[in-house]
Amino acid sequence: MWIVFIFYTSFSTSILVNTVRGNEACPKFIPGPLRLGNLEFGIHMKTSCFRSLYGISITECATECLLRKSRCKSVNYWRISLKCQLCQNMTGGDNMGPSNGGVHSDISTWSQSFASSCSEKNCGYLERCMPNRAADPSNKNVCDVSECPLPEIKPGTAIEQETGVGVTLRYTCINQRLKYTGNPFITCQSGGNWTGSDFACDPYELVFQITPGVGGDVYEAWMHGGSFTTNSDKNCQTLGKNPSCKFHFRSSILDRWSVEVKPKVKVGIYKTGQEVHNITFKAVGSDLESWFSRPNVLNTTYTGILRTDNFNFFSVIGITNANHLRRFYISKSFNDCPGDFGWMMVIVKSDTYPCEYDHHDSLPAIIYVDKQEGGLIKSEWKLADALGIFIYHEL
Ligand SMILES: *[C@@H]1O[C@H](CO)[C@@H](O)[C@H](O)[C@H]1NC(C)=O
Ligand SMILES: *[C@@H]1O[C@H](CO)[C@@H](O)[C@H](O)[C@H]1NC(C)=O
Ligand SMILES: *[C@@H]1O[C@H](CO)[C@@H](O)[C@H](O)[C@H]1NC(C)=O
Ligand SMILES: *[C@@H]1O[C@H](CO)[C@@H](O)[C@H](O)[C@H]1NC(C)=O
Repeated sequence: MWIVFIFYTSFSTSILVNTVRGNEACPKFIPGPLRLGNLEFGIHMKTSCFRSLYGISITECATECLLRKSRCKSVNYWRISLKCQLCQNMTGGDNMGPSNGGVHSDISTWSQSFASSCSEKNCGYLERCMPNRAADPSNKNVCDVSECPLPEIKPGTAIEQETGVGVTLRYTCINQRLKYTGNPFITCQSGGNWTGSDFACDPYELVFQITPGVGGDVYEAWMHGGSFTTNSDKNCQTLGKNPSCKFHFRSSILDRWSVEVKPKVKVGIYKTGQEVHNITFKAVGSDLESWFSRPNVLNTTYTGILRTDNFNFFSVIGITNANHLRRFYISKSFNDCPGDFGWMMVIVKSDTYPCEYDHHDSLPAIIYVDKQEGGLIKSEWKLADALGIFIYHEL
């Protein structure tokens, strides 16, 4: 099968040669001996390939490579699908891998003459030489921009390595659980440049969101889930106010905390579509409760927290009293009710209304102080639309 195939491609090559030799418009061009390059069976180059071409022979594939001699250094070829790939790197090194039915060839082993008159022409890096057989000796060959550079790999993204002019590619996040911002599409323009892209994967994955007013003890919901939580309802996974969400969102990742949670965890407070405050915690080696503590705070918009050493509460569990529950509680000190100083809490139960600010028409209620330095809860508190907790992924 292979012998027949190579005979066939050699035959088509000799037709090409005759055509070139018969071209009176290029009197100075004397083709050298035509030599097929080395074919390495069962391997291919995995990276640096910038262009795929279909329905051509291996000789035509090598010729396409030679027509882009500033860039193309080797080719992959699959004889069943007649697929040709042009690659930037020379054969060898870590870039090679096994390939069922594939052939690889280093272009330096092929005769330049396959490119006919273009073998004498130096086109630019993104250009392909077009052998011009029109009877104009002064304009023998034309260089045309035919590809863009390999697309930029943004952190944590994957994108096809296919760069022909006119092609549109799409960025995706390698970790498919991550959300992204920006436009994922880029198009290779006729000038050999890509349209710009502001695409970026968001390294913070939402794993918990408290929805005010839907009931339930958010401490229990955080620790164990239960009937007040959902791990799938999409309505509960968009940040901020969400009237169609009737649950707290709790990702099943929380059941694998020690495995999934590596460097950092973030808490965000949301109001009218904006993140108004955030706290980032070190989470290495932590469990579901221990990460939420002052020594683990890495950075926060609440600068007062960074300047405070003593808190009467800084914990997920907060105040646990039969009639009175405050969770995700960060408080510096008490002084009756009017003098209570702190930053945030989630009121879950307030049967005895210990303080005015504990009383809400619907629970849970997320209350926070807007001031960075913290403040007196009684006079400063505001109601948040949501509280989100995120785990950070290294991109
Ligand atoms: C090409 O090869 C060089 C040297 O081995 C390597 O550093 C580079 O990453 C390769 N390029 C691509 C796009 O794979
Ligand atoms: C691409 O190049 C053309 C011509 O050089 C230029 O007009 C255009 O602004 C460039 N586009 C981008 C996105 O860089
Ligand atoms: C925290 O909020 C500040 C101010 O809005 C913002 O610049 C920063 O990126 C946020 N941090 C994280 C980890 O989202
Ligand atoms: C918090 O992060 C922001 C943005 O990265 C940085 O400008 C600021 O200095 C950090 N603050 C602290 C206290 O680490």
